[in-house]
Amino acid sequence: MSSNSLTITDNRTGKQYEIPIENGTIRTMDLRKIKVADDDFGLMGYDPAFTNTASTKSNITFIDGDKGILRYRGYPIEQLAGKCTYLEVAYLILHGELPTEAQLKNWNWNITHHTFINENIKKVLDGFHYDAHPMGIFISTVSALSTFYPDAKNIFDAENRHKQIYRLIAKVATIAAFAYRHRIGLPYAYPDNDLSFTGNFLNMMFKTSELKYQPNPVLERALDVLFILHADHEQNCSTNSMRGIGSSHVDPYSALAGAAAALYGPLHGGANEAVLRMLSEIGTVDRIPEYIKRVKEGNFKLMGFGHRVYKNYDPRARIIKQVADEVFEVTGKDKLLDVALELERIALDDEYFVKRKLYPNVDFYSGIIYKAMGFPVEMFPVLFAIPRTSGWIAQWEEMLLDPEQKIARPRQVYLGSDERDFVPMENRNPS
Ligand code: SDX
Repeated sequence: MSSNSLTITDNRTGKQYEIPIENGTIRTMDLRKIKVADDDFGLMGYDPAFTNTASTKSNITFIDGDKGILRYRGYPIEQLAGKCTYLEVAYLILHGELPTEAQLKNWNWNITHHTFINENIKKVLDGFHYDAHPMGIFISTVSALSTFYPDAKNIFDAENRHKQIYRLIAKVATIAAFAYRHRIGLPYAYPDNDLSFTGNFLNMMFKTSELKYQPNPVLERALDVLFILHADHEQNCSTNSMRGIGSSHVDPYSALAGAAAALYGPLHGGANEAVLRMLSEIGTVDRIPEYIKRVKEGNFKLMGFGHRVYKNYDPRARIIKQVADEVFEVTGKDKLLDVALELERIALDDEYFVKRKLYPNVDFYSGIIYKAMGFPVEMFPVLFAIPRTSGWIAQWEEMLLDPEQKIARPRQVYLGSDERDFVPMENRNPS
């Protein structure tokens, strides 16, 4: 008998089954041989929200939630955030290795020269009401991109796939900036290929009458670090959506629009916007106790706290706090930071949060920095989607090339009505 296995006794039949253990998991399909009769379907696993289900093998991102560890392709996030640009990390996430100087130069050139969007996309943008939420614009416009690149459907043609990858990483920043400019009624500021990825994004966001926008280097660098921290996070809700939608072999633009829609939710990437609204609602340090009380009564969630995987301090939140100090040197400190710091101090000492292992996550401090940099709160989930695009695409490509993967189609436990006959209208009752 292999020691690396489970021996399961089905007490309904007394039969024993040996189930192999691989990578700390069992294949749920192996449970199907556990039956009470030959025509029995066999056992399934039941795991709502996949709290204990591995949907894939992956080589991209490693998280240890108890130790607060995050690595992209084996490199600790702290080292990448301290030494790389976002595009360098996007290359690593997609290709599996840090680029050589020549590879990075070629990569940067290709992304930079795909930042322009088809002029007709401006008609899509102009169709939105002036105060449309930029994340709604982002999702719709990324989806619209699929109609401009019909060849993107050739997902198993590697050269074609890589061209779409350049386009997506580059154009999501342009779409994000154009959505913002549409919202505030400013003319679109076109990409400037002389600038870095983040410098150009700041240019497209904030350029006004100057001939050439000069990004503040501290803010440009801060955005690089924030984008690195948001680039990937293994099988989170939106990545699971990207993989699930992509498993039908749809083009990557349509799949990414779906992933962005998942990210938009306040429990996920929409949390950074919700954190700012929460901190603004609390307003001052002296009002924090009443909110902590409401949390404990179960009628208020502390946005930016808690995580499905991290049961320790989110390592990204720790780095973001350091970035905040550098940004505030340039922009001036935001009073909401005092509220956030006091909220964190109280929560980390409070048994309610300690027992539930609720720590600040990536969204808790990022919004304060974005606000100080001049981004409106509605742009915060869009600022999450821009860098997460490289993670979504890397996970999508890994899924496509994984021989074990096929169209995602979970099972269910049916507890509805048994077979029954049609009821004519005259015999139906309101109940
Ligand atoms: C992101 O998955 C990822 O990797 C996501 C992400 C990424 O990079 O892709 O890291 C980005 O989405 C970060 C999370 C941003 N969301 C928020 O900050 C929203 C607030 N957080 C919660 O909604 C919650 O913590 C989740 C959604 C993040 C995690 O929820 P879980 O894992 O389903 O945990 P749970 O809801 O089962 O909570 C366990 C307990 C519950 O209490 P009891 O029922 O046991 O009494 O903790 C409580 C929850 O009520 N709880 C909170 C809380 N989060 C959980 N109580 C108050 N405030 C909170 N924020």
